[in-house]
Amino acid sequence: MPPKSSDDPARFRYEQLVCELSGLIRAGTFAPGERLPSVRKLKQQKKISATTILQAYRLLEDQGLVEAKPQSGFYVRPQIFMQPNRPRLTEPRSNPCEVDISDFLLEFFDSVSCSSIVPLGAAIPAGDLLPREKIYGFLAAAARSKAVDPKHYVCPRGIRALRHQIARRVYPRGVNLTDDDIMITCGATEAITLCLSAVAKAGDVIAVESPTYFGTLQIIECLGMRALEIPTCPTEGIQVTSLERIMQHNDIKAVLVQPSFHNPLGCVMPEADRADLVALCTRHQVPIIEDDLYGELSFEAPPPDLLKKHDRDGWVLTCSSFSKTLTPELRIGWVAPGRFFRQVQRAKLGHSLATAIPQQQAIAEFMRKGGYDHAIRRMRRVFCASLSRAIQAIGEWFPPETKATRPLGGFVLWVELPAEVNAMCLYREALDRGVSIAPGRLFSADDQYNNHIRLNCGVHWDTRVENAFKTLGHLTHELANPPSEDLLVAN
Ligand SMILES: Cc1ncc(COP(=O)(O)O)c(C=O)c1O
Repeated sequence: MPPKSSDDPARFRYEQLVCELSGLIRAGTFAPGERLPSVRKLKQQKKISATTILQAYRLLEDQGLVEAKPQSGFYVRPQIFMQPNRPRLTEPRSNPCEVDISDFLLEFFDSVSCSSIVPLGAAIPAGDLLPREKIYGFLAAAARSKAVDPKHYVCPRGIRALRHQIARRVYPRGVNLTDDDIMITCGATEAITLCLSAVAKAGDVIAVESPTYFGTLQIIECLGMRALEIPTCPTEGIQVTSLERIMQHNDIKAVLVQPSFHNPLGCVMPEADRADLVALCTRHQVPIIEDDLYGELSFEAPPPDLLKKHDRDGWVLTCSSFSKTLTPELRIGWVAPGRFFRQVQRAKLGHSLATAIPQQQAIAEFMRKGGYDHAIRRMRRVFCASLSRAIQAIGEWFPPETKATRPLGGFVLWVELPAEVNAMCLYREALDRGVSIAPGRLFSADDQYNNHIRLNCGVHWDTRVENAFKTLGHLTHELANPPSEDLLVAN
């Protein structure tokens, strides 16, 4: 994504200032240990209020970039020197694979659902960050209301009020949809399942980013399809030129991508690559399933446009849900299936017939009354701060060869550990010490990323989380440098 200007009129003035200053800190203009301009000086220079400047400095403090010294001012924190490097472009083996991750995934879900564990494993925002109370208020009202006719049960598309809100919501992201272009589903999981069932059959090959979200791999496994992993850049996403080359030798039936704030890489595809991807697939008549689950959680306002913006002929099927922005437990998602509407509708009939109605009503009302933007704004601020702290903690506590991504949205971090560290061992050792993580091999169909982990940073950064990062750092050091056998014998 081209860097957004800090003059973006859509942001608040303090957000523009944070963007400006964090850029200058990262570029070294304000070096570690140096003092930022005083509030008084900046107020005169920029003609903005002291409150706005203080609000910006406090946010930089939350992000761990600066620290306040009493009676003295705000200083760039020293440890940002220790920030880890970024991972490089991935190079998966380019042959289609059967997927076999369900058994381990069941074990993983069992282990991460324990409430006493520090939850860095599953990608779920902390409960108090989600507007659950408000949504449950609307849900109670929906349960009491008699406005919805039970006949809606036989409307596989979902209620119009929600489809209407979604169509309005995607318009500023470059896509003109009507209520009739959208279908409501049981979460994005069902949306993706329906899309894959509509465009491919068992044995077919589906191109995916490498690494990719394990749920996508699991759906491919359940449908008996095969995954083909495509080289993916940790900052710019799937490599369209590699996909084009691989397409010449493989009969790919669909491409499944997350163009905005990819899980687990956090990357965003540049606009030119998006246009190339849609043009390539349209030329080859290969459907693209766009998973936009994290698209709204951009740290820079406004969020990136949808891939579907480039779609003239209906080859892009866009899927999303409210799991990361409202709450996952309502299980409401949606799909805009383009030219495959009829096939997806047929798949929905066989899969679940229709989606629960009170949940749809509650979300539609919440969106109509305007609470959605406020809730997302708060989440973005906390996620951005926690990711920033996590990156610094990795720089401080993990071995120096460790690499980490720099997401510009969402709330997951992808970490490459030293080559000799087995992430499965780290996962088990960390669980024993009360910390869950997601081991890297879950994100590949081809047994890769054995020295990688994904960390959920959708949490408030507090001492418990900080200590969990210290524990992970110590364990990683131990696994990278196991005591030699001679030493063990001597002891
Ligand atoms: C990238 C991605 N797609 C889809 C899903 C599934 O979403 P839902 O809970 O709406 O089924 C997830 C859940 O974590 C995800 O991270």
